Amino acid sequence: MIDLRDLTKVFPGTTAPAVDRLNLHVERGEIAVLVGPSGCGKTTTLKMINRLVEPTSGTIRIDGRSIDAVPVHELRRGIGYVIQQIGLFPHRTIRQNMATVPGLLDWDKKRIAQRVDELADLVALDPDMLDRYPSELSGGQRQRVGVARALAADPPVLLMDEPFGAVDPIVRAHLQDELLSLQKRLRKTIALVTHDIDEAIKLGDRVAILSEGGHLEQYGPPADILRDPANAFVADFLGTDRGIKRLSLIPISDLDLETGPVVDRSATHAEAVATALEYGTDWIAVRDGVGVDGWIRIADVPGEGVATVQSEPFQTRLTKDSTLKEALDAIVSSHTSVAAVFDGPELLGMITADAVSREILR
Ligand SMILES: Nc1ncnc2c1ncn2[C@@H]1O[C@H](COP(=O)(O)OP(=O)(O)OP(=O)(O)O)[C@@H](O)[C@H]1O
Ligand SMILES: [Mg+2]
Repeated sequence: MIDLRDLTKVFPGTTAPAVDRLNLHVERGEIAVLVGPSGCGKTTTLKMINRLVEPTSGTIRIDGRSIDAVPVHELRRGIGYVIQQIGLFPHRTIRQNMATVPGLLDWDKKRIAQRVDELADLVALDPDMLDRYPSELSGGQRQRVGVARALAADPPVLLMDEPFGAVDPIVRAHLQDELLSLQKRLRKTIALVTHDIDEAIKLGDRVAILSEGGHLEQYGPPADILRDPANAFVADFLGTDRGIKRLSLIPISDLDLETGPVVDRSATHAEAVATALEYGTDWIAVRDGVGVDGWIRIADVPGEGVATVQSEPFQTRLTKDSTLKEALDAIVSSHTSVAAVFDGPELLGMITADAVSREILR
């Protein structure tokens, strides 16, 4: 959908290129993330795609057509742009900001009003905020408006420049999740810029790692890059914990779950001990009719069995959607040294450190 060939930009008055013979292909419906250190040419690359910056050489095709062959206003109608630092118009209300592109396209008032309401809903923005000014919103809310404004005319392509740059890690993670769920429904072709490698790994179907001077060091699915960094620059950029980062891309649904040491409430002392022995644990989980709600130490099981013992809840209850990284975290932070996977109240099984390391080596 987006195809960059030998794309180069040398700004007037400079000698070193800001972007140097960049080749990049973004598949339709995918998110490509451009990541790299400050000044490596990420914003310049995005701006060449919507012709805010003219390339020195090279070609850009969108949906098979060279962007030079399309009038600029028509090109930009098909491309939503989330500007670095959001760039909302400060003297216009949120509603007016969101309606910018539909206004330029001369939509009638009723259609615009309807679209703004839809957009607010889409990005989970409280409708009460629509008549406020940007300065009256939090950073996270402004980010949402920036995304909504870019989506207003439903363009097939989105360019997002550090869309979640200026918010705290919790809001940031939340906005990232929202973008992913939005993308599941909208299937846009997205080129997103960040300098945060974790954000790139989380959001990107493919990740482009750029170095100073707009050199593409590696481009591919994040799992591949984490497994096989192309060179020392990429390895260094990924960080020393790249093995752990890779775990965040593997869903635990890929693993065979072990049953784990589970007994019924009616189990005798001998049954409890035998079950723990079988699994090599010093604890057992107890099933209470509906499901498993906790575990007890074998040492705390009295002679008459588990019937009356109060069980400890599992600290972390993973689901099938959890990742290996979450499983590993649950394992190292739990008393039981396993991660318990649940479907509602029902215990589906357990993951041990062994199972995680087997999966890593696969
Ligand atoms: N209009 C311009 N004239 C001259 N040089 C420019 C211009 N715009 C950008 N540059 C230079 O081009 C290089 C790439 O800039 P760009 O804004 O693309 O970086 P970036 O990767 O987006 O960085 P950041 O992560 O800090 O936003 C920088 O060295 C910058 O100084
Ligand atoms: Mg930039």
